[in-house]
This record gives sequence, structure tokens and C-alpha cells, in this order.
Amino acid sequence: MKFLTLLKNKNLSNKTCILRVDFNISLTNTDHTQTNTENFRISPRSVSVNPRISGVLSTIKFLTSRGAKVVILSHRGRPLTNLKTKKLKDPKLFKKEFSLKFAADFLNKKLKKKITFVNNFNFAAIKRKIDKSPIGSIFLLENLRFLPGEKKNDVKLAKKLASLGDFYVNDAFGVCHRNNASVVGITRFIPSYAGLLLESEIKNLNKLNKNPRKPLVVIIGGIKISDKIGLIKNFQKKTDYFLTGGGISNTMVAAEGLPIGDSLYEPKMLLFAKQLLKSCSKKIILPDDVIVDKRRILDIGPQTIEKYKKIIKKAKTIIWNGPLGNIEDPKFLNGSKEIAKAILESNAFSVIGGGETVGLLKAKNSKPKKNIFISTGGGAMLEYLAGKKLPGIVALEKKGEPRPRHCLGGKR
Ligand code: 3PG
Repeated sequence: MKFLTLLKNKNLSNKTCILRVDFNISLTNTDHTQTNTENFRISPRSVSVNPRISGVLSTIKFLTSRGAKVVILSHRGRPLTNLKTKKLKDPKLFKKEFSLKFAADFLNKKLKKKITFVNNFNFAAIKRKIDKSPIGSIFLLENLRFLPGEKKNDVKLAKKLASLGDFYVNDAFGVCHRNNASVVGITRFIPSYAGLLLESEIKNLNKLNKNPRKPLVVIIGGIKISDKIGLIKNFQKKTDYFLTGGGISNTMVAAEGLPIGDSLYEPKMLLFAKQLLKSCSKKIILPDDVIVDKRRILDIGPQTIEKYKKIIKKAKTIIWNGPLGNIEDPKFLNGSKEIAKAILESNAFSVIGGGETVGLLKAKNSKPKKNIFISTGGGAMLEYLAGKKLPGIVALEKKGEPRPRHCLGGKR
């Protein structure tokens, strides 16, 4: 794989970079562009602290400071599958709802540079506009998922996207688990690199996959255990503890035959949970006490918080994915907040992923400590930590098939 840093001594003033980012974020708590349980929600005021946006600023500066023009690509939500209501079929609403315009406005303020937002997919006209623009210009294209070819990894679309530039940079770890045209297909047509954010994701997550320092503590919350099977299986041997909360622990408690009232759980995962509890009963820690409202378990209780904090204090490596309670309601935020505090106080190398969990750390401390790595991947982080090969990363590593020569002099 080639990393963008390889180009640090290059003058890129006659080049255009196609930069794929992941600006798939929630802007409000009721933002229904997001259907994914692993969506990247931080808080309504969150654009500036969202690592999916703040994390790519360095890559954009890296490119423009060397004179490159940058054409930014992203998706947002699932506009073509979300068209359930008549209302959303109105093209005007459709565009506004899923538009990336907010990101152009944000980048404009943050970088103090004009960002040309391109709200159409007339590739020939876009190309002419790019060619005429001065060096260091920045363009942001509208949500690529307005085009059906994006999700299908359509070769014609990939080629058109590639035709806009000289080289491609993937800085969208969050979408590397998707076989999409702007993530995978495009790498067949122009020299391709991993951006600064993607590089740091790969390097930090690899530290967990290969010989993490012990004790290793994996904290898993969120609604569905089925989303986390891969992570659990991959870390079953390596970890010292799984600290559980949310729907995950409800399913496990139900699997033990204990009452959970009307709490959320996954009936189809009871067998898996039973087997897991049998095979690593000493590692899986279930809450000792919980906060219940209207017959539903909605947070971990004070004794559990203390117990989890003691374990976290001894950890040398921590992985956290998914809140331990129903954090949308401030009444049930306490458990997750206390766990976030314990991680901030710890010196363990910690990787936090999933937008909601990240929000807890960001709200407390906008400049996280060096030992804490905030992953921009929701589903992508879970798949990577499950040991799966992500198509977007595989595409950057591919050798063998006929590929363009390095546009900037070196061999590919
Ligand atoms: C995410 O938020 O997990 C990524 O942006 C991918 O989005 P998707 O699940 O809609 O493909």
C-alpha cells in the first residue's frame, strides 16, 4: 500500500487529487439520513468536533500546501434505500435531506478557503471547471449515493470519477468496508494512496490485532450483539475482560435465564450468547446492578460502574465500542459517562469507536490524550477488528492487475 506521506517532497501544483472522505455524520439527534445503528452521531453541535471531518483537514492541507487541486468525494446516508415516504421522493427535499452542502460550508470556515460545492454530476462540465481553476482549489461533490452506481461499484462511474483527477487518496476509513465505486472501483484507473487519517487508523488498529499490551479490556455496549460477533470472536482469546452493557448484556443476561423485563435484547442471539458465556465465563463481566425504568434496563448501576472502573484502572489496552445505556436520554447517560471518565484517566492505549461513544469523550475533552485513539469507523472498525479484509483497503494494496504507473515518478 502506498501512503500519501510518500509525496511529502513532491510539488503537486499541476496535479488534481480525488480525495474520498467519509462525511456520513448526523447533524441532529433526529437526523434520519442515518439508518445504521453504528451511525456516526456525536451531538447536534458536533460538526467541528466530529473526527470524520476534523480528521481529514490535515490531508486537505497536505495536498493544497503542495499546490494540488483537491476534489472531495463522500456519501451521506442511504438516500436511495431511504425513500420510504412519498415526501422524500420529492427531488428537492431528497437533495436537501442528504446533501453534503453543510460540509462545504464547514470546510470553508475551517480552512478559510473557498470550497466549490458541485451539486450536479455532469462530469465533463465538472472537469472543465477543475481544469480552469487555480492551483490549490478545493471542490466538494454532492452526495455520491444519489448515483445508483456508487453502491454497485459500477465501473463506468468509477472511471468517470477517476477522470476528474490524476491520483486518488482514500481517507475514508469509515466506508472501507463497502464495495463502492469511489472506494474500490476508482483505484483501478488512477494511482492510489491511503490518506493521513486512513494511515493512522490502520496503524492504531493494527496495534490491537497484533500483540496488544495486557491486561486487555474490551468494553462492548450498544444494541445488537449480532453486530459485534466478529469482534468478540477475534478477541475471545486475546482479551482479559469483556465489560458489557446495553442490549448486549441484556441478551447475555436473558441467555442465563434471568429476567430482563421488557428490555431490548436479541432473541435470535440467545444461543450464541449461551455458548459464549460457557466458553469464556471468566472473561465476560455482566452488570451486577442496573437502572430500570418502566420495566426496561436502561443503564448500568453504581456498583457495576465501580467494578468496571477498577478493571479499567489496571488495563494496559482498552477497546470501547457502543454505549452502556440508553444515552439518548440524559437520565441514562451516567454509566457511559463514568466509563469515559475512567478511560480519560487511564494511561492505557485506548481505541474508541462508534460515533456515540466517541461523543462522550469529545464532549469532555476536545483534545484527547495521546494514548487515546478515536476511530472514525463504526461498522468498518468492527469489521477490521473482527480480522476481516476491508475491500477499500484491499483495493489500495492490490498488485498484479494492470494498473496505471505512478503519476508522480516512482514505480507502483
Ligand atoms: C458508516 O457510517 O458506517 C459509514 O459511513 C458507512 O455507511 P453505510 O453503513 O451507510 O454504508
